[in-house]
Amino acid sequence: MGSAVGLGNIWKFPALTGANGGAGFLLIYLLATLLVGLPVMIAELTLGRHARANPIRALRMLAPPGQPWWLVGVIGMLAAFLIMAFYSEVVAWVFVYVWKSLEGSALSSDPAVTEAAFAAMVGNPWVSLVSQWLVLLLIGGILVKGVAGGIEAVTKRLMPLLFLLLAGLCVFSLTLDEAAAGLAFLFKPDFSKVDAAVVLTAVGLAFFKMSIGMGTMMTYGSYFRSEQNIPLTAGRVMVADLAVSLLAGIAIFPAVFTFGFEPTAGPSLVFITLPAVFAQLPFGQGLMLVFFILTSIAAIGAMLSLLEVPVLVLTERLGLPRPLAIGVCVLAVAVPGAGCALSGSVLAGVRVAGLTFFDLMDFVSSNLLLPVGGILIALFAGYVWGRAAFTRAVSNGGTLRNEGLAVVVLVLLRYVSPLLIGVVMLNGLGII
Ligand code: PHE
Repeated sequence: MGSAVGLGNIWKFPALTGANGGAGFLLIYLLATLLVGLPVMIAELTLGRHARANPIRALRMLAPPGQPWWLVGVIGMLAAFLIMAFYSEVVAWVFVYVWKSLEGSALSSDPAVTEAAFAAMVGNPWVSLVSQWLVLLLIGGILVKGVAGGIEAVTKRLMPLLFLLLAGLCVFSLTLDEAAAGLAFLFKPDFSKVDAAVVLTAVGLAFFKMSIGMGTMMTYGSYFRSEQNIPLTAGRVMVADLAVSLLAGIAIFPAVFTFGFEPTAGPSLVFITLPAVFAQLPFGQGLMLVFFILTSIAAIGAMLSLLEVPVLVLTERLGLPRPLAIGVCVLAVAVPGAGCALSGSVLAGVRVAGLTFFDLMDFVSSNLLLPVGGILIALFAGYVWGRAAFTRAVSNGGTLRNEGLAVVVLVLLRYVSPLLIGVVMLNGLGII
């Protein structure tokens, strides 16, 4: 849960739901989560626990000799770097907003004020760069000091608090004048905005939010106890992840319509609308501070899980000492990271296929690498590892008596997930 719940829920989910027309997008996203995300998460956790190794080694161990399935782990590592490049920048924005909450500078129900505060931040190259470096140093420092476990324990305690705060915000948002318009946008499907590219984005979001398709969950699985009930754990993570996203959506969209924001604002949406909500609340400044602190802690949990994937590979495979491996990875993120940080200022005009560097990293990782990784993991678990080994591992050697469920998951992995993702990808990219 520490890996799955993060900026994907609080930042990306509202931004993409807003930009892609609301409820229609949400429905496709829900289907992708259930039919593809959940089975792939179960497969990853099971493979990781069975192999007790990093994703590259796990796939090498479990594949028949000579078959290059370990390349899936390499694709995953690449995805981790691309995600960290832009994710670290969004964590940096959250840090800046912790500061802005202290100052009270972004707190206003006037869209012009909150939009200007966000624009000033992303438009300032130094603020963007230096805050990102701080994030990277902090995450690297946590891993070097080996206190990631401690941070995860803190995350676990504070997550319910974030949940409560979001739930409270929702209740307040529902009293706003245009609450009905916000809810209709979020829950009354209008498929006129849904095209192939939107479907691909929804599938990519499902992968991103559940941290699957790149080996993070395999890595986490490798630390699982043998008696842990994997389908149950995966189901709980999925439900919690969905719940946090929906709360974020319900907190944000009524405010979007009440205060006159554009639902299509994109990456700025959370940062411009929530301060407007806080401005209406008693103790709004303090609540805004708590909100951004809790969000930054959730984001750090997700970021740690991203960095752990390449660090583990470098230490296990190349035998690098851990601090060195962490240093190398942090530097390797900082380079494309700078491209993302500067996308709102000096590099704003540099575009590939119409996308800024920030958007390109996001598109390639979420809409290409994670789904490709997901197809390959589904095929691997479904066909190469095979039915007997899969059901044995999912049922903890038969003790859970959930073989029926394991077969359903296997059918989804064999026939539904690869086909669905494959068609969605080819369609979304305009190939078919
Ligand atoms: N799932 C995380 C989030 O929602 C992001 C993430 C993606 C983390 C992939 C690890 C791997 O914020």
